[in-house]
Amino acid sequence: MDAKINLIVNGRQRTVTTDPERPLLDVLREDLQLTGAKYGCGEGQCGACSVLLDGKRVFSCRTPASRAEGKKVLTIEGLAKGENGESLHPVQEAFLAEGAFQCGYCTAGMIMAAVGLLDEKPNPTDPDIVAGMNKNLCRCCSYPRIAAAVRRAAGQGSQNTQHAATDAQGTPEAQDAKGGR
Ligand code: FES
Ligand code: FES
Repeated sequence: MDAKINLIVNGRQRTVTTDPERPLLDVLREDLQLTGAKYGCGEGQCGACSVLLDGKRVFSCRTPASRAEGKKVLTIEGLAKGENGESLHPVQEAFLAEGAFQCGYCTAGMIMAAVGLLDEKPNPTDPDIVAGMNKNLCRCCSYPRIAAAVRRAAGQGSQNTQHAATDAQGTPEAQDAKGGR
């Protein structure tokens, strides 16, 4: 039976009427038109659907909507600030600067995982980065650039000097870093 679920999505109070067992990912994508989080495996194995629930990274494909009742959900669409989202979050900036994507399908989930990791550990070691990001899969194997982006967002500089920010800024894949595709 459907129920009313109240949640705060990207700072905005929302109410949805839905099956409480329905995945949060479906509610975000289909009911709230927030399509940044992606469906990859539906089994909690790839991280493409990652969002933050009260600040903790969850796989929204495996999170029943009822678990979000009264909680704060942060999706990639909620990261950028400014009237038109023109001021990107430092992690988004770092992914663009490092060109940390190819097809971009994993990017929103990677960025949300990185935001969750850096909230918890603002100055992560390389093992912290591996531990924090290893539940997110990238089929394009952009892992070195993704790790470089996390280091850059943490203020540790870049260890990936082959790629300039200007290479990535205008690509369609860069839109995934902003939740725009
Ligand atoms: S779609 Fe959720 S973990 Fe793969
Ligand atoms: S950039 Fe293609 S799956 Fe990661």
